[in-house]
Amino acid sequence: MSTATAIQNTATNTLTDFLPLGGTDYVEFYVGNAKQAAHYYKSAFGFQSVAYAGPETGVTDKVSYVIRQNKLTFVLTTALRTGNEIADHVYRHGDGVKVLALKVEDAADAWAQTTKRGAKSYMQPETFKDEHGEIVLSGIHTYGDTVHIFVERKNYKGLFMPGFVEWKSKFNPASTGLQYVDHCVGNVGWNQMNPWVKFYEDVMGFRNILSFDDKDISTEYSALMSKVMSNGNGYVKFPINEPAEGKKKSQVEEYLEFYNGEGVQHVALATNNIIETVTELQSRGVEFLKVPASYYEDVLDRVGQIDEDLKPLSELGILIDRDDEGYLLQIFSKPLQDRPTLFFEFIQRKGAKSFGKGNFKALFEALEREQEARGNL
Ligand code: FE2
Repeated sequence: MSTATAIQNTATNTLTDFLPLGGTDYVEFYVGNAKQAAHYYKSAFGFQSVAYAGPETGVTDKVSYVIRQNKLTFVLTTALRTGNEIADHVYRHGDGVKVLALKVEDAADAWAQTTKRGAKSYMQPETFKDEHGEIVLSGIHTYGDTVHIFVERKNYKGLFMPGFVEWKSKFNPASTGLQYVDHCVGNVGWNQMNPWVKFYEDVMGFRNILSFDDKDISTEYSALMSKVMSNGNGYVKFPINEPAEGKKKSQVEEYLEFYNGEGVQHVALATNNIIETVTELQSRGVEFLKVPASYYEDVLDRVGQIDEDLKPLSELGILIDRDDEGYLLQIFSKPLQDRPTLFFEFIQRKGAKSFGKGNFKALFEALEREQEARGNL
């Protein structure tokens, strides 16, 4: 019997959703060199230049580049000086995700609702204006040094937000077909999964829609536990991982060691055609975790009929899994920076609403081979 527990969908009454979310607004990365990072995300992943803030626009302590592809907006930010939050974040964590920004109708209310339920304030509601209208931002802390910023942009028509100018570039690489954020996974410390599950339930009104324990997600070494948290309308999903006892150091422990604490492990990006997307990403130098060829020998026995030919999937290393509602195709990049911390997942959903549990074993064995090569197993 499977120990994965699909938790009954308790009927979500939108009238009682105290924190209605319109999805992910943007993801902001604090990095060591935003100019180069922006170029990497543009060239490798097919983002376009959108907006810029820095000394030329009156910002004296940091530089931010905003890039976009379909509904995905990334902000790459770096510190210009030491002795500030951004420089300290990069010193401690390396490049990583600082902000998971969420679209709201009312940022002041989102802040009031969450802080009254126990969230620690990161930023009180504040209105920013320019000739394109106004935007209201507020923010709360979540695990580690990660924060959620609530973005109210219903009265704003500009490119990104006040304080930014258009970033025009002659380098406009073609899209790789990436569409939107499917989910963002956090790694938290020992025995910290349930407290953070409770945080998302109590403070943000999320529900636990799926759980995996160490019997589901355990190879010889890489045990972990995970609970998937979803907001009321399902637009925002945050799985939370914690390490579990294994023979040797698990992948979550390796992350916690190199990130110096809790943080975002991976951001999953949706595509409508994963074969085309991954073919393109690979040709632009993006590196992926590879499962052994034997994975494809019996995968169709496990997942049944699929629309795609198996050959391109196996050549690219794309994984397949099925649940009651359909199937999904997914693949994981190697870490996006030198520390073995943040990586991307690329996912195409064909009905399935789950997260690829059937692939965990093959995947974690692939991860362990990488961990071993780094001497961290
Ligand atoms: Fe994922």
